Amino acid sequence: MCGIVGYIGDEQATPLLLNGLKRLEYRGYDSAGIAVLDDGKISVAKAEGRLANLAATANIRGNIGIGHTRWATHGGPEVRNAHPHLSKSGRFAIVHNGIIENYKELKYFLELRGFEFVSDTDSEVIAHLIDFYYVGDVITALIKAACRLKGSYALGVICSDEPKLYAVKKDSPLVVGLCEKSTFIASDMQALTDKTRNFYIMDNGEIAVIGKDARILNMNGEPIKKSVYHAVWDNAVAQKQGYAHFMLKEIHEQPQAIKRTLDAHMNSSLDFLDGINSIHIIGCGSAYHAALMGKYIIESLTGIRVNADIASEFRYRNPIIRGDDLLLAISQSGETADTIGALKIGAGRCKSACIVNVPESTLTHISSPMYTLAGPEVAVATTKGFTTQLLNLYIIAMNLLRRLGDDRYKLLEREIYSLPSLVSKTLALEPQMQQLGVRIAPHDYAFFIGRGADYAAAKESALKLKEISYVHADCYPAGELKHGTISLIEKGSIVVAIATDRALLDKTVSNIIEVKARGAFVIGISCFDLSNVCDVTVNIPRATFVSPLLATVVCQMLSYYTASARGCDIDKPRNLAKSVTVE
Ligand code: G6P
Repeated sequence: MCGIVGYIGDEQATPLLLNGLKRLEYRGYDSAGIAVLDDGKISVAKAEGRLANLAATANIRGNIGIGHTRWATHGGPEVRNAHPHLSKSGRFAIVHNGIIENYKELKYFLELRGFEFVSDTDSEVIAHLIDFYYVGDVITALIKAACRLKGSYALGVICSDEPKLYAVKKDSPLVVGLCEKSTFIASDMQALTDKTRNFYIMDNGEIAVIGKDARILNMNGEPIKKSVYHAVWDNAVAQKQGYAHFMLKEIHEQPQAIKRTLDAHMNSSLDFLDGINSIHIIGCGSAYHAALMGKYIIESLTGIRVNADIASEFRYRNPIIRGDDLLLAISQSGETADTIGALKIGAGRCKSACIVNVPESTLTHISSPMYTLAGPEVAVATTKGFTTQLLNLYIIAMNLLRRLGDDRYKLLEREIYSLPSLVSKTLALEPQMQQLGVRIAPHDYAFFIGRGADYAAAKESALKLKEISYVHADCYPAGELKHGTISLIEKGSIVVAIATDRALLDKTVSNIIEVKARGAFVIGISCFDLSNVCDVTVNIPRATFVSPLLATVVCQMLSYYTASARGCDIDKPRNLAKSVTVE
């Protein structure tokens, strides 16, 4: 939620800040702003809406600056709530990612002392608080202010009295990008991989003081020795490379992403599985759907009990956690606040691991990481991030089968190795999905059904359709539709049925016939022949274990082309952010 950047060096800051913000726009895009310091004077530019609005107007000169792209939490998406926020004296400008939980109490404290607030945000208190504590030494003021803040923050700060850039971190991600003649700060490495591969990954309670060089201090103001992290992500991957949208590019990158991920894990021992008796898998959004799919896959193959939970529910429902459980978090970003919170409740009570895409993200520091090697994912709607999460779950199932001495692991292993080519064959269905997208586009709603792992695939597919095309999509286990929802089916209703499990095929076919009898237009996605019961059939390649994954690839394309036919902003759907760092 929200992205921050900062720059100090010999070049003009404004274009560099705008470039960094563009690469962070996936974190929020309802307003943006920059503050630039030049010759002891801070100038600010802000604009509502997309970054392009700011870029069209921001023309501030100076070599030191901070910038912010916002996803509104406290206060609507208006210019006065956009960052950077200035302190009362105008001496400090700050940008903030996170939430200040005690901002009301601090606001009251500051108002009593004559500070006036111009925004409805929680963040503005930070600027005034630093100003309140400033008596000539910025570091002391930052430390005193940080000690009063409750909640999470990645802060970028500039002060008109000093040609320096400051950053402070607690529970929101923050990196310092080191170049030869300049230094950046940013919410993540992806914002800066076109500038540098060398980073300090900031830890909680650390302050970066950046002038001619970058020093990292602790909350006592003492220097800390940090090692430099060398990023492996390739900058070229974060470009559209001729595709109309990042989402389409990322859909097509799946065979390589899957190949890289399986190469990394097929022969690894996955020590976090040692001695476990049951598994809780947690995640939010699509990552939860991967968790649900993981439950079906692992439980049915291995007989090991798996509980799949939405992270925001798990963390507050007092779940039963035993010492021989594994708590497995799934997250593309590794920064989702609810997923981190849910994982933490298992701390000291059982083993924990995470399936994460972003290197060095928060989750990877608090549990054993099993990375997905999807590379940077820019489109807000996840595609290659999701399918590589599923792959890791298949690899976990295979590893468990091997540990149990169950020979079926060999069959699963063979199929996993063929996954890149199965996904490539599935991508060849694109022209058919383009036609079907045009067919769905005029509709306001659609239904998705499936049984078993296909139900999890259908849930993810329904989410994909609604998040990017705004066609409302409801998903049900195929057998559940008749218990109420079938009353909504009428002539022409769109029903997408995923049916890839031979053992459940007849049951799902019966459910298809039920909706057909009520006039539905049924699109069947299957590796079996459904042409006699569906209006349109999408024939995915034949497979035994991984068919639900292939069905989700089909539905990614279906959603993409529906959204495209409806003229939607596919890579940045309204109201969403890719990385949700608030509860
Ligand atoms: C947001 C995104 C979803 C994503 C979810 C979890 O809501 O819009 O697409 O699935 O966060 O993100 P994570 O980074 O934890 O996988």
